[in-house]
Amino acid sequence: MKKPSRPLSSNPHLITWVKKMAALCKPDAIHWVDGSQEEYDALCAQMVGSGTFIKLNQKKWPGCYLARSDASDVARVEDRTFICSLSKEAAGPTNNWVNPFEMRKTLKALFAGCMKGRTMYVLPFSMGPIGSPMSQIGVELTDSPYVVVNMRIMARIGKDVFRLIDQDFKRVVPCVHSVGAPLKKGQKDVAWPCNKEKYIVHFPETREIWSFGSGYGGNALLGKKCFALRIASAMARDEGWMAEHMLILGVENPEGQKTYVAAAFPSACGKTNFAMLIPPAHFQKRGWKVWTVGDDIAWIKPDANGRLRAINPEAGFFGVAPGTGDHTNPNAMQALAKNTIFTNVALTDEGGVWWEGMTKEPPAHAIDWKGNDWTPEIAKEKGVPAAHANARFTAPARQCPTIDPAWEDPEGVPIHAIIFGGRRATTMPLVFQAFNWSSGVYIGATMGSEMTAAAAGTIGKVRRDPMAMLPFCGYNMGDYFRHWMNMQKGLSETPRVFHVNWFRKDRDGKFMWPGFSENMRVLKWIVDRVRAGGKAKETPIGWVPRYRDIEWNGLDFPEEKFEELQKFDKDAWKAEVIGQSELFFDLHASMPKELIFERELLICRMG
Ligand code: GTP
Ligand code: SPV
Ligand code: MN
Repeated sequence: MKKPSRPLSSNPHLITWVKKMAALCKPDAIHWVDGSQEEYDALCAQMVGSGTFIKLNQKKWPGCYLARSDASDVARVEDRTFICSLSKEAAGPTNNWVNPFEMRKTLKALFAGCMKGRTMYVLPFSMGPIGSPMSQIGVELTDSPYVVVNMRIMARIGKDVFRLIDQDFKRVVPCVHSVGAPLKKGQKDVAWPCNKEKYIVHFPETREIWSFGSGYGGNALLGKKCFALRIASAMARDEGWMAEHMLILGVENPEGQKTYVAAAFPSACGKTNFAMLIPPAHFQKRGWKVWTVGDDIAWIKPDANGRLRAINPEAGFFGVAPGTGDHTNPNAMQALAKNTIFTNVALTDEGGVWWEGMTKEPPAHAIDWKGNDWTPEIAKEKGVPAAHANARFTAPARQCPTIDPAWEDPEGVPIHAIIFGGRRATTMPLVFQAFNWSSGVYIGATMGSEMTAAAAGTIGKVRRDPMAMLPFCGYNMGDYFRHWMNMQKGLSETPRVFHVNWFRKDRDGKFMWPGFSENMRVLKWIVDRVRAGGKAKETPIGWVPRYRDIEWNGLDFPEEKFEELQKFDKDAWKAEVIGQSELFFDLHASMPKELIFERELLICRMG
């Protein structure tokens, strides 16, 4: 091994652990990450040299790079994701559980010598603003420079975090990551090293993460889904807070009052777009504005007055590229215009990037995400997309034009409403409101959504995805529901709960609702319900807006169409309730009583 770089921390526990892991993984060198711009630039230059990164046209895309992953390493791998709690019951039936002692043996063998020929980066990170009472700290050991530069955008990293660790400020969550592709002496590296065998492993009791074989997104940027959701959800249960797969946004009304809402939609179901919503012209003229706090994860905690407050533990957006354009999400387009890392999008002849939905007109020629020639004709003939459906941008949150002035407030922002939503072609109306907290928890717990390209699996199939947390809850889902029920008991004010669906389709398979900016009309109704005594009608599933309760100025959307979009179809709901029962069977041992009663009530109301 080369002489290791000087440790940037004096914490003896950290130094001992790094030594121990280096002895296991056998890297050629150790690099303590200081988080500086110089270090970031040097790592990017190094990856341009090795072929991992393509430097984009710097005039058009300043500070931007493109990476193309291995074609087999393009999304999270849920069937290779493990929750290794001491007992199987603690992980619950919806998680892959392996006995932790067994798993440790497996990991030891996998990680032995796995970093040969590579550098091990010691990457300290804070999830949440550095020093916030709601923040948490981790150290990721990784042999991937791609991970280091992405994490520099997604989290707060470097010297300031080492300083906290040296003060023994908080417990550190140890995270070990390897692409699982050791190099023999003189062996040439590939652009995207990874391993066919993948293990994304969590030990919730000892609060550790081990990830092997993938360099992609949620599999490798361990601060994100692995820590901020799977480990954090277990911490949150123990400590009385919540770690949720939710965006956070603030709605400013013409009087200047702000209403913050948190919304849980499954992966690739519209969180980033909703978080950056631009109100239609009519709303803007009257002074409505939407502010972005976060687009993927919320940590929520009651304050001293018993009100829920939330922080965004991340510092960047790891957003879905396809579908993002000036016509759908101009805020995201501005956020990703500079200092952004693109993964699996197409490269244009001008050295820029392109993906489906970025512009109405595709470029005449591009290099697709696999590195092949691509033209609109090839796309038509062979059906090959220019960008992978789960292509992503990694962009700094502060570059978003609507970033909320309070987005880094260490105390978080107050949460007035919680929204659940999935991707449902049928059954689910545009919007309805839960009767109360327990019916709201029921709505979240029984949420369904069609599967997307964000995870390996069958795209389009409806699956139950409670609170959009099915792939991200670090413990038993039934206990998680109980935690939700319990959280409300200590609150002085309970947030209102809603369900939305932007994706209902008509008989011709077309989306019935224009979505995007127009979602403001739904959001306004929600804010009215929370703040201003907005009107609604009672139905078996909850409170719904009548046509006249929605602001329609500037949109031609006839009443018949709205009725169709909001339609409560009794037969479809019967099938829905039967579909939900799968979850109740799976979780019968741990399901809180309230949810069983809510289910009975719903069935009775349906008559
Ligand atoms: P993750 O980052 O995977 O957690 O995804 P996300 O929930 O942030 O989803 P995102 O906002 O990136 O949207 C995913 C896809 O849904 C994109 O292709 C969007 O264009 C599309 N989408 C978002 N909002 C709407 C909407 O209101 N209507 C329609 N029809 N599509 C939408
Ligand atoms: C998701 O899949 O929900 C994402 C992307 O936000 S990843 O970071 O890969 O989990
Ligand atoms: Mn997500």
